[in-house]
Amino acid sequence: MSAPARLPTNAPFPPDAIAALNRVIEHTSPTQRSWLAGFLAGYEAAGVPAVAAPAAVARPALSILFATESGNSEALARKAGKDAARLGFAPRVLDAADTTPADLAKTERLLVIASTWGEGEAPARATGFMEALLSDAAPRMDKINFAVLALGDRAYAQFCATGLAIDERLAALGGHRAAALLECDLDYDAPAAAWLTATLPALRGADAESAASVIHVDFGAVDAREYSKTNPFQAEITDLVNLNSSRSAKQTFHVELSLAGSGLTYLPGDAIGIAPENDPAVVEAVLDAAGLSGDTALHAALVKRHDVSTLSGYLVRSLAELAKDPAIAALAGDAERLAEFLPGRHVVDLLTVFPNRLTAAQLTGLLRPLPPRLYSVASSQAMVGEEAHLLVGAVRYQTHGRDRSGVASIHIADRRRAGDTLGIHVKANPHFRLPADPATPVIMIGPGTGIAPFRAFMQERDAAGIMGKSWLFFGDQHYTHDFLYQLEWQDLMERGVLGRLDVAFSRDQDAKSYVQHRMWDARRDLHAWIEDGASLYVCGDQVRMARDVHTTLRDVIAAGAGIPAEAAEERLTDLKQQGRYLLDVY
Ligand SMILES: Cc1cc2nc3c(=O)[nH]c(=O)nc-3n(C[C@H](O)[C@H](O)[C@H](O)COP(=O)(O)OP(=O)(O)OC[C@H]3O[C@@H](n4cnc5c(N)ncnc54)[C@H](O)[C@@H]3O)c2cc1C
Ligand SMILES: Cc1cc2nc3c(=O)[nH]c(=O)nc-3n(C[C@H](O)[C@H](O)[C@H](O)COP(=O)(O)O)c2cc1C
Repeated sequence: MSAPARLPTNAPFPPDAIAALNRVIEHTSPTQRSWLAGFLAGYEAAGVPAVAAPAAVARPALSILFATESGNSEALARKAGKDAARLGFAPRVLDAADTTPADLAKTERLLVIASTWGEGEAPARATGFMEALLSDAAPRMDKINFAVLALGDRAYAQFCATGLAIDERLAALGGHRAAALLECDLDYDAPAAAWLTATLPALRGADAESAASVIHVDFGAVDAREYSKTNPFQAEITDLVNLNSSRSAKQTFHVELSLAGSGLTYLPGDAIGIAPENDPAVVEAVLDAAGLSGDTALHAALVKRHDVSTLSGYLVRSLAELAKDPAIAALAGDAERLAEFLPGRHVVDLLTVFPNRLTAAQLTGLLRPLPPRLYSVASSQAMVGEEAHLLVGAVRYQTHGRDRSGVASIHIADRRRAGDTLGIHVKANPHFRLPADPATPVIMIGPGTGIAPFRAFMQERDAAGIMGKSWLFFGDQHYTHDFLYQLEWQDLMERGVLGRLDVAFSRDQDAKSYVQHRMWDARRDLHAWIEDGASLYVCGDQVRMARDVHTTLRDVIAAGAGIPAEAAEERLTDLKQQGRYLLDVY
């Protein structure tokens, strides 16, 4: 890997300043350099609170389209909208869920910010837009100058697939790229800010006059008093208890956190981000494999700051380049072999299979920042005040002959106790809220840890004295060992806050029984509730549960309304569009 370029001696600084800047730059990561670029680009503007657009100049229209599941793309789009207004654009921020390609074809400037979900899929509410854009009926986009920012996670094989598909399709339909697509990993804040800094002026085009020459990095985000993903609050754990019985195959922890003194607030439906720490033993194994055992400072840095687990094609390619190792280069260059090698393997496996002595800087340069993990908040502040409750399932499994443990869940399960702290931030989820009208019936489907937001929903309604129609589907392995919050549900039922509870325990009988089976059993009532205007909420496992639940809902509607499956599928799409079929799946 080549060293970062040095400032030339003719740079407009005194020699000692050039030397000092070079010393700093040499030890920066690509992410830090991108952040610095954005920071410097906005440095002047930061002192000027609002740069007024010149009155006489027509403001060029800019459409900013986002496709989001958990709000990251939306938050970036709204921030880009503010930056664009400061630059003299007339921006309008559009949700792909409410937009058609035909709407876009009329615009001349388009910024797209899109995330990828599932295994390379579009966010649920944006699937209709994507289908229309990819269809033969999509309109020509010859008039459009566009740029696409793609959010994703390198841990997934289909990295940034939605953004890539939109970028390719807009170009194929005749659109002109104003800037190359940017693929962002989970640490997207700095690279996205730097890309927007460069891209917004490029979208303006040569003909329009400039209202301001720079946009800026969000300086508010570096305010130490505001807690955020990059500046987590150290919340004290006030209670930590495993809700499963000792005979269960699972461990699911109820975690109570104190928010006292933080000023943090949340709403039912939101999530809390946890800044985890790596297992020191896994860090030791990585250091050992890289020939760096015994470096205690590096060990401490890796425990807290670097993702020592996730193995991606990008990391394999980076190591091949860095180590000049022909064996790794052969793997990195063979997509089929790589696709076979990666699943279930972690960084330590790569470094063990292909041993190479690395320097500390090489190793940390290879590893991405340790991303926070999100947990649906399981409480309502109307009930618990300055606390947040979470429900965390312990992730333990074996692959390629090694025991593996989930970074965040096992940090909480094995290495945290009441009285310890966890770094946290609040992640708002405005698309997963209780209905505005308390009289609207709610149907909540949440097996396993998917139950968490529904505890928050029920606490909220309980605190407000709402007894409206509510129905909960819960499932897990065994009634006696895994019935999470059983006494609370029973109490809510007795007091009429929760109207109906249907449970499925998959391993209590020979034939597996899941929530979707209970839904089918209750199909007449379920269909009647939907016809009665109920909102449907699904939370928990995305891969198996949410798909099976979706299929069952389709079948319930088809049977209830006496319509074909395709028409029932359209009805579900309509419900999604109306905000009456809401998913929070992971
Ligand atoms: C909006 C949102 C809300 C969430 N809410 C909750 C919640 O309320 N409760 C909760 O427990 N979790 C919740 N999650 C999931 C949570 O964020 C973490 O992903 C989860 O706890 C695992 O994190 P970890 O760090 O322990 O595991 P990681 O270190 O991230 O490891 C998890 C990864 O390990 C691999 N893996 C796991 N099991 C196996 C296996 N059997 N075989 C092979 N590979 C495997 C998979 O690649 C998986 O992605 C939520 C996620 C999102 C996005
Ligand atoms: C369950 C789940 C599945 C995901 N699947 C992918 C994927 O296939 N490819 C990818 O690049 N990113 C994937 N991601 C990462 C998201 O794209 C990333 O977290 C993004 O920042 C989310 O943005 P949003 O909040 O705008 O939806 C996935 C994340 C989750 C939680």
